[in-house]
Amino acid sequence: MSAVAEQTRLADRINALEESSTLAMTKMARELAAQGHKVISLSVGEPDFKTPAHICEAAKKAIDDGFHGYSPVAGYPDLRKAIADKLKRDNNIDWKPENIVVSTGAKHSLANVIQVLINPGDEVVIFAPYWVSYSEMVKLAEGKSVIVDGAFENGFKVTAEQLEAAITPRTRIVMYASPNNPTGAVYSEKELREIAAVLEKHEDVYILADEIYEYINFTEEGHFSIGSIPALKDRVITVNGVAKGFAMTGWRIGFIGAAKWIAEGVEKLQGQVTSGTNSIAQKAATVAFNGTLEPTKEMAKAYARRRDLVVGLLKEIPGFKVNVPDGAFYAFPDVSYYFGKSDGTTTIKDSDDFSNWILNKYYVSTVAGSGFGAPNCIRISTAAADEALSEAVQRIKDAVATLS
Ligand SMILES: Cc1ncc(COP(=O)(O)O)c(C=O)c1O
Repeated sequence: MSAVAEQTRLADRINALEESSTLAMTKMARELAAQGHKVISLSVGEPDFKTPAHICEAAKKAIDDGFHGYSPVAGYPDLRKAIADKLKRDNNIDWKPENIVVSTGAKHSLANVIQVLINPGDEVVIFAPYWVSYSEMVKLAEGKSVIVDGAFENGFKVTAEQLEAAITPRTRIVMYASPNNPTGAVYSEKELREIAAVLEKHEDVYILADEIYEYINFTEEGHFSIGSIPALKDRVITVNGVAKGFAMTGWRIGFIGAAKWIAEGVEKLQGQVTSGTNSIAQKAATVAFNGTLEPTKEMAKAYARRRDLVVGLLKEIPGFKVNVPDGAFYAFPDVSYYFGKSDGTTTIKDSDDFSNWILNKYYVSTVAGSGFGAPNCIRISTAAADEALSEAVQRIKDAVATLS
């Protein structure tokens, strides 16, 4: 069968799906590196730190203690309890273990909730710029994404007024991440309370709050969870995990805290599709949530330092518009000044061209903003060593100097 014929044999829902742009760029970067090029890979959203030792020890112990079998679908009771305790301690959210479902990463948790709450044609309001997978998850559930743009001038954040205007009788979910990927924007308590005031009036609307970057927050105020607002509590699904804060991306543990009927819906779905997630990783995550946050705080300090470094260097590049991220580990400059310009061989039409050109000619992998609903920007991960970051931004600076 020809490649085209093979593709048409795939289900429509898969043909309609976009490939994850972050994973695609990372794959291309790996291929160029394998060919011997000195690639600086800043496309993946991954801490460059190791998982703290006490968490690794817990995994080793879990193997020795014989946690080799299937776990309960929603997770081991001690992990669900540790998560309920963590939500109380850090987020002022009062859920019992029965309100918690553990899944194979926060990505899985988000996808589960969308499958469980969305009927064909239901609308999901997504605050943009947004993480690449949100709109594709909605598509898989046959829902309709309604994208609301957070303006650069407002730190890439959506206002309560914008949200109000986007809600229709078909709106079922409003979803956002704070701290945000790709912008690093952090919604303050005041902003979230204004948003909550709008949502209070719409009783059929659920709020999917993605808090995976909770611990990487550089603001003095710190993190605020919309799920802690009593009037909304039963309608907020708080999603989080271990990937970013504990440098545990490969361990694949995420969770939701939600009203019992939603948790039960997710458990039912998961029971047919994946079952309980990895038993050893669950034991490690239990120690992560119950244990010290000191290593997490140290990592956050390093991300803050690198944010300052990268933002400072990016601001020196003529034509770049640079927002200062308040959290996460990305810079998200607007590079549209260079659209329509050429180095004599390649003309840069959009952020995809920009990102591909920088990778293929200067060996720095970034991700085009188009996949994040922000076509003027590129995303640069700052989760890398200082020298690599300085070298990468210098290469970008030298690259754009050849454009006219
Ligand atoms: C905003 C956001 N949500 C969720 C996830 C997924 O996290 P996990 O690795 O736990 O699936 C990511 C990972 O990049 C992310 O950036």
